[in-house]
Amino acid sequence: MVEFTLPKNSVVQPGKEHLSEKQGGNIKRVEIYRWDPDSGENPRMDVYEIDLDTCGPMTLDAIIKIKNEIDSTLAFRRSCREGVCGSCAMNINGKNTLACTKAIEDLDGPIRIYPLPHMEVIKDLVPDMTHFYAQYASIKPWIETQTPAPADRERLQSVEDRSKLDGLYECILCACCSTSCPSYWWNSDRYLGPAILLQAYRWIVDSRDENTGERLDDLEDPFKLYRCHTIMACTDTCPKGLNPAKAIAEIKKHLVERQ
Ligand code: SF4
Ligand code: SF4
Ligand code: FES
Repeated sequence: MVEFTLPKNSVVQPGKEHLSEKQGGNIKRVEIYRWDPDSGENPRMDVYEIDLDTCGPMTLDAIIKIKNEIDSTLAFRRSCREGVCGSCAMNINGKNTLACTKAIEDLDGPIRIYPLPHMEVIKDLVPDMTHFYAQYASIKPWIETQTPAPADRERLQSVEDRSKLDGLYECILCACCSTSCPSYWWNSDRYLGPAILLQAYRWIVDSRDENTGERLDDLEDPFKLYRCHTIMACTDTCPKGLNPAKAIAEIKKHLVERQ
């Protein structure tokens, strides 16, 4: 497993301590990366002690409890609380994952929470996803066709063709994989990274799409695709159990087979 490395703007110092008056029992120590660009100060790690007897079971529950009851200035993203929207992706005890599906009881000792590694930070646990989404748009994540649609029905797929999307359509674009990939850390300006390449493959294998050749042409590039060195950190970290490294290998196979 590739372990955590700091976000880009990081000389992290010890921060404020919010200790619990209650001791022993079910008190859990949570350390959270804090940085506010408007403050002019360096990033710091703040410490919070929370009572698990009055907290929900997931790491996101702990973060929400801290914001509601201890420190309302803490910034983070979340929406669905069901592992569906991808917005609560962060680095928890050294691994990129979704805070809403990471059970506190599975985390031994103190919980240490950082934003997704090697991303610009907007504030606290909120990374800037602008570049990631621009890369997503660049692979044209929609069906492209040249023939007219049937007049009386949708463009249909056989059961077999539909099954080729299994393991791909479930991706929630959380970016846990891309931000665990060393190649993406150092080359994200030009390398698309595992999340976007898995999405690219999802459209390449869609039987309804009629621009497969152009999609492959666009990816045949030493940086966009071939910066993947099969380190597998992406697949190891995906909280949805997907295999972006395999999808990347499939794209490479398609490029070889069409020669
Ligand atoms: S492949 Fe997995 S880790 Fe990567 S963006 Fe999709 S859901 Fe997230
Ligand atoms: S397999 Fe490729 S995309 Fe996945 S972590 Fe390794 S280099 Fe990155
Ligand atoms: S809040 Fe939606 S995936 Fe965690």
